[in-house]
Amino acid sequence: MARNKIAFYGAGNVGATTAHWLAEKGIGDCVLFDIFGQVASGKALDLYESAPAIGFNSMITGSNDPAIISGADVVVVTAGIPRKKDPVTGKFPSRDELVKINQDVITDVARNIKQYAPDSIVVLVTNPLDAMCHVMFEETGFPRERIIGQAGALDTARYKAFIAQELGVSVQDVHGLVLGGHGDTMVPLPRHTSVAGIPVTELISKERLDEIINRTANGGGEIVGLLGYSAYYAPAAGTAIMVESILMDQKRVIPSAVYTQGEYGYSDLFLGLPCVLGRGGVERILDMELNAEERAKLDYSAEAVRAVVDVLGYKK
Ligand code: APR
Repeated sequence: MARNKIAFYGAGNVGATTAHWLAEKGIGDCVLFDIFGQVASGKALDLYESAPAIGFNSMITGSNDPAIISGADVVVVTAGIPRKKDPVTGKFPSRDELVKINQDVITDVARNIKQYAPDSIVVLVTNPLDAMCHVMFEETGFPRERIIGQAGALDTARYKAFIAQELGVSVQDVHGLVLGGHGDTMVPLPRHTSVAGIPVTELISKERLDEIINRTANGGGEIVGLLGYSAYYAPAAGTAIMVESILMDQKRVIPSAVYTQGEYGYSDLFLGLPCVLGRGGVERILDMELNAEERAKLDYSAEAVRAVVDVLGYKK
C-alpha cells in the first residue's frame, strides 16, 4: 500500500513543527516546500536525520520547487507573511494591508496546488485564517469539504489547557470546544465544556471561567508578548491532529473553519464549526443548539470574519 503523502506549503515554524509531529507518528511521508532559500531542504534533511534516533520510518524531503508537492494527499498551507515592521518606513502594515499581502500569497499557493495536487485536501493555517480559507476556496475551485481551516483545534487546545491547569486535572479529561472566527471574537462554549462528564460550570466560578475564556481569546497575543513572534508548537499540534484524523480516517470531531452553506444560519463564509474530519475531508458538520447568548457571540464573530472577507473584493 502506498504511503500517505503530506505536503507542507511553507516550511517556517508552524509548517516544520507540524511535519515533525506527523513524521514522528508515522502518518505519512512529508515533503516541505518554501520559497525562502534552501530552508525547506535544510529542515527536511535535519528532521530526517532525527529518524534513526527517535525511530520513525517517514521519509522527509524538501525543495524550493513547488513541484515537490505533486500528488500530495494533504497539503498543509502555512505560507504567508507575518505582521512585522517595514524595514524602510518602520511602520506596521494595517490589518487590511496584511490581508491583501497574504491574499496574493494564497492566490499563488492555490494556483500551484491546483496544478500539482488537484485531488488534495487542503488544511490551511495562514492568517487571517478565515479570510485566507476564502481565498483558497475561490482560487482553487475545490469543493468545500477539501478546504479546511485550522483555528478551532488550536483555540480549543488552549482553552482545555487553561481549564486543566486551573483544576489540576489531566488535560485528557477536559472536553469542550471553541467555535467562530479565529481571533479575539472566537466563541468558547462553557455550557458545553466538561471534566470527565462533569459540567465545568459546576467546578469553576463564572468569574474565573470568564477570565479563562478571555485568556483563550487572547492566547495568540500572550505568546507573541513572550516570544516576540507567533506561537508554533500549539498551532502545529492543532494542525497535526486534523491531518491525522483525515489521513487515518478517524472521524474525529474537531472545530474547523468550514465554508458555510446555511449551517447555523450562515452562508458563503468560513467559520469555525464542529466538523467530522475523515478521508473525505470535512465529512459532516455537527449541528448543536445554542442559547441566545452563544448565538449572539457567534453572530458577532461571523460579522468580524465578514468584514475581513469584504476586504478581499470577491464578487458576492
Ligand atoms: N510560497 C511558499 N512559501 C512562502 C511564500 C510563498 N509564496 N510566502 C512566504 N512563504 C514562507 C516563508 O518563507 C516562511 O518560511 O512561509 C513561511 C512562513 O513561516 P513563518 O514566517 O515561520 O510563520 P509561521 O510561524 O510558521 O506561521 C505561518 O501560520 O499561524 C499562522 O499567523 C501564522 O500566518 C502565519 C502562518
